[in-house]
Amino acid sequence: MSILVTGGAGYIGSHTVVELLNIDENVIIVDNLINSQIETIDKIKEITGKDIKFYQVDILDRENLERVFEENTDIESVIHFAGLKAVGESVEKPLEYYKNNLIGTLTLLETMRKYNCKKIIFSSSATVYGEQATSQYVETMKRGETTNPYGTTKAMIEKMLEDIYYADNSWNISILRYFNPIGAHESGLIGEDPKGIPNNLMPFIMKVANKEIDHLNIFGKDYATKDGTAARDYIHVVDLAKGHLKALEKLNNEKSGLFIYNLGTGNPYTVQEIVDTFKKVNNIDVPYEYTERRAGDLTIMYADPTKAREELGWAAEKNIEDMCKDSWNFVKITKQK
Ligand code: NAD
Ligand code: UD1
Repeated sequence: MSILVTGGAGYIGSHTVVELLNIDENVIIVDNLINSQIETIDKIKEITGKDIKFYQVDILDRENLERVFEENTDIESVIHFAGLKAVGESVEKPLEYYKNNLIGTLTLLETMRKYNCKKIIFSSSATVYGEQATSQYVETMKRGETTNPYGTTKAMIEKMLEDIYYADNSWNISILRYFNPIGAHESGLIGEDPKGIPNNLMPFIMKVANKEIDHLNIFGKDYATKDGTAARDYIHVVDLAKGHLKALEKLNNEKSGLFIYNLGTGNPYTVQEIVDTFKKVNNIDVPYEYTERRAGDLTIMYADPTKAREELGWAAEKNIEDMCKDSWNFVKITKQK
């Protein structure tokens, strides 16, 4: 049996494929490489010593997506990472985001139904909670107001999956809501390397530490937190990847169902704590300045990870020092050769 991984050449997808190969699963990757490099496929093979099938296919391309299912009749489940994910860009290019994320997912789901493959894990985001009365998010909360088209695509896909399940409860669906993934594989061969100026905190810190950007702007010093900077639930990407294996195990043990899990550590850290820890564990300078708050940012958001622990037997194992060390190790291995 095989697992189809859409977006498997990307940041979270590549780490998940490594973990799947480590437990001897057969993996087929579909990725159009719009935000990733072909070299990642070789790096995955180098890390695991295993082979994978790779198709450079856009999930909106129904004909070629069907070809993948025709050529691999043993595809039993799909882990669906493929999507555009830059919050700021989604505000500027909403049509591109709605088209890629919504029509892409729709095409994938129709293709799955056609080939009678009804087991899927979907990459959602904590952003679907929006702003809630409390800052620790639990799966029983209703989805909130999303603040950008990217977040809206995640909320809409969640709803779409729910509707599909209610119409045909032979589907077996797991929606995983990621908090803030950072870090990299311990080999330093794969990690997150966004093109251009990054929006997210850790990729920005990595570029400042590597002297590609002269300083970090810390957005806001007047939040109601211990040091005035905003707090998030950062999770090591390898822990996140392992969460997918547990979610898949759960689906394999169920006949059908629709499950939603937070994947976070449950421990919020402030921007200041992340910067200070990065500097300390890597013994490197990260110049920074405090600037205005970034529009739309919340003071603090973090997961209640109880459901994933109780139902999946999954909990994050790596700490903030590991996340900072592994992020920098990826830069050292890949950029400073
Ligand atoms: P990524 O950009 O590194 O990976 C996504 C991959 O999908 C890329 O390799 C890209 O080339 C591919 N892709 C995009 N559109 C495609 C299409 N139409 N057809 C085929 N391939 C396509 O992003 P990531 O950080 O690995 O995120 C993976 C998933 O997790 C995304 O759906 C993202 O929205 C979601 N997510 C990410 C975060 C995060 O902070 N990284 C947080 C919450 C949710
Ligand atoms: C955002 C998105 C989320 C998405 C995630 C990862 C929202 C509400 N959240 O989360 O959907 O899944 O990115 O792509 O849209 N910071 C700085 N300086 C910087 C960059 C960031 O101080 O240069 C701060 C931010 O103000 C924030 C924290 O670092 O407090 C984390 O920011 P970021 O990495 O962008 O993630 P989120 O905003 O939490």
